Amino acid sequence: MTDKIFLPNDSMMLSTDFIYGVATASFQIEGGATNRLSCIWDTFCDTPTKVADGSNGLIACDHFNLWQQDIELIDSLGVDAYRLSISWPRVIKESGELNQDGVDFYLNILDALKSKNIKAFVTLYHWDLPQYLEDEGGWLNRETAYKFRDYVDLISQAFGDSVFAYATLNEPFCSAFLGYEAGIHAPGIKGKRFGKKAAHHLLLAHGLAMKVLAKNSPNSKNGIVLNFTPCYPESDLLTDKNATVFADDYFNQWYIKPLFDSKYPEIMAKLPKEHQPEILDGDMAIISHPVDFLGVNFYTRAIYRADADEHFIQIDPPEPRTDIGWEIYPNAFTELLVSLNEKYSLPPIYITENGAAMADKLIDGVVNDTDRIDYYHNHLNAVNEAMKQGVQVNGYFAWSLMDNFEWAEGYLKRFGIVYVDYDTQVRTIKASGHAYKELITNR
Ligand code: FCB
Repeated sequence: MTDKIFLPNDSMMLSTDFIYGVATASFQIEGGATNRLSCIWDTFCDTPTKVADGSNGLIACDHFNLWQQDIELIDSLGVDAYRLSISWPRVIKESGELNQDGVDFYLNILDALKSKNIKAFVTLYHWDLPQYLEDEGGWLNRETAYKFRDYVDLISQAFGDSVFAYATLNEPFCSAFLGYEAGIHAPGIKGKRFGKKAAHHLLLAHGLAMKVLAKNSPNSKNGIVLNFTPCYPESDLLTDKNATVFADDYFNQWYIKPLFDSKYPEIMAKLPKEHQPEILDGDMAIISHPVDFLGVNFYTRAIYRADADEHFIQIDPPEPRTDIGWEIYPNAFTELLVSLNEKYSLPPIYITENGAAMADKLIDGVVNDTDRIDYYHNHLNAVNEAMKQGVQVNGYFAWSLMDNFEWAEGYLKRFGIVYVDYDTQVRTIKASGHAYKELITNR
């Protein structure tokens, strides 16, 4: 284990043009729930057994009240950028009009970031769909894509030129598959006939929003954030290899291929008709609207074996694993970036999330998370290796600025480079936070 993060001396990631940041998401940190509409995650949290510790996002890290000190904290880490998400139910009323109090909350944050010369990377949808839209079918309702476009239209006008980069969606795979197929994320709907339909409407929402952003905010970099869990076969058997390609198309390529090739992977034809999305004329052209950047989130890989009924099954991840059970396998990060670069004609990439949940202990005011430092060291070097192989990566964001509400895991899993005591809301920079700062400030 190491107590430092270091890159080779000739690394392009040591250039001051390379952007380093920290990332968060609205529902995971804000709290302030009485000042906004209810969202699908509020409902999900209220449903018994859905969230591991029975918790919710009503207070979370109380960032709604503590945002000023949190911006100071971000600044103290020496980062170039902060990736935050906008809570749709905070800024839009049920009538579809702007909620000015909610807008002001974010305008104040954007102003504070500007005054500190920190670039704002704004994600417009990080999973907190207003509940009133879910009541009308949520992402299974095509109309939601147009509601998203209208929200993006209003909010991007309100934000003017204070945003450096907009991402339409965070990880549509998670919204669609985990939320509407596996049912382990909000809104908790289960069934293979739902996942790809939700995915199509999410991607449509992305494309519609890109057009609006190009008009309202031509000077910002506008794109999308996708997550990738690269797929590896359990053995060299052809059946396992084929199963792995199928899984990769189903989980990963499904979300990127429409953006850059204007079509879904060919496995679509192998899905039963009732599992396929309804694609209307012109949809794929909307979805493949050019993007200025691709945001890539990476945490781990997955290993597959062939299965006669289900095409593939995922096997349990081998050691070493993080506290959330995800295998630590940085090589997959390099291989992912290189392979995406080969497969598609990509704009510059930002690594919009990467990080690890570890079983942190706050002892005498210190969190000595050398395991997390190791993770960052190895994964930053994996990105560096991909850049050496020709991939254009312009920035990297640590997930996360601070411990927060980790979705179905509640507050049990800590991803922060800053420790949060949820009883007192005291923040303590972990050793990994100090190491990250040192890397950035020593460039
Ligand atoms: C990603 C999410 C993010 C966080 C990390 C651990 O899938 O985008 O909000 O929960 O995983």
